[in-house]
Amino acid sequence: MATVGGSIWLVVVALLVHATRRERGPIGEHTAGQLIFWGGAAIPSLLLFLLLGYALWLMPGLRPFARAGEAGGLRIEVTGEQFWWRVAYRPADGGAPILSANEIRLPVGERVEFLLTSTDVIHSFWIPALGGKMDMIPGRTNRLSLLATKPGTYCGPCAEYCGTSHALMAFTAVAMEPAAFREWLAARANHYRYRRKTWLDATDDAHATHPQGRQRHPILILSLNEINSMSETVSNWLKEWLMKPS
Ligand code: CUA
Repeated sequence: MATVGGSIWLVVVALLVHATRRERGPIGEHTAGQLIFWGGAAIPSLLLFLLLGYALWLMPGLRPFARAGEAGGLRIEVTGEQFWWRVAYRPADGGAPILSANEIRLPVGERVEFLLTSTDVIHSFWIPALGGKMDMIPGRTNRLSLLATKPGTYCGPCAEYCGTSHALMAFTAVAMEPAAFREWLAARANHYRYRRKTWLDATDDAHATHPQGRQRHPILILSLNEINSMSETVSNWLKEWLMKPS
């Protein structure tokens, strides 16, 4: 991209230098006609045609749905809530869902299918580094498939105004090497199997250590349970939020 941009800049500068150095004189009608035909019609049309071809060629890969058999079998359900993200990994073997919040991990090089919904108002799920956004609408489930091509930590903002804390509603997406991802997911699954309790019960011990005791608000339940496994950005944000809920 930088090379193409640099070349275009060089051509423009060269033309500019040429135009300022050249002795001015009248241009013949034939030359003017040629200039308008090639510079104004033929070359731009050719360039636009090439760009159109390139865009059409790219399009299938940008579709929000995976082609049949392309998805790696992993589905991640993300539910938008004012103002956080409930995350449930649905393993391909149909095992129990693995729950998390405000952080999404996905394997590099494998298409992941996201099932998106909301419990209150319309939110919008967006990982700009990986693809376009998709609305999360109460009462329906939207599908989006994304493919991370290199490991990294990406930001996922809520892309639809959803209330006073909309600007704070963000999650972290962590693209991991497939082996590391599976190891992490297995560890999470064991964690939940070991407890064999409901979502709320699983956090009892976390609440026991918290001065305010059992709290009804889901974000508190989740944050105490999940905070140690989250990235620093998310855990700092959650800690801040816990001190001063908005
Ligand atoms: Cu959720 Cu904006």
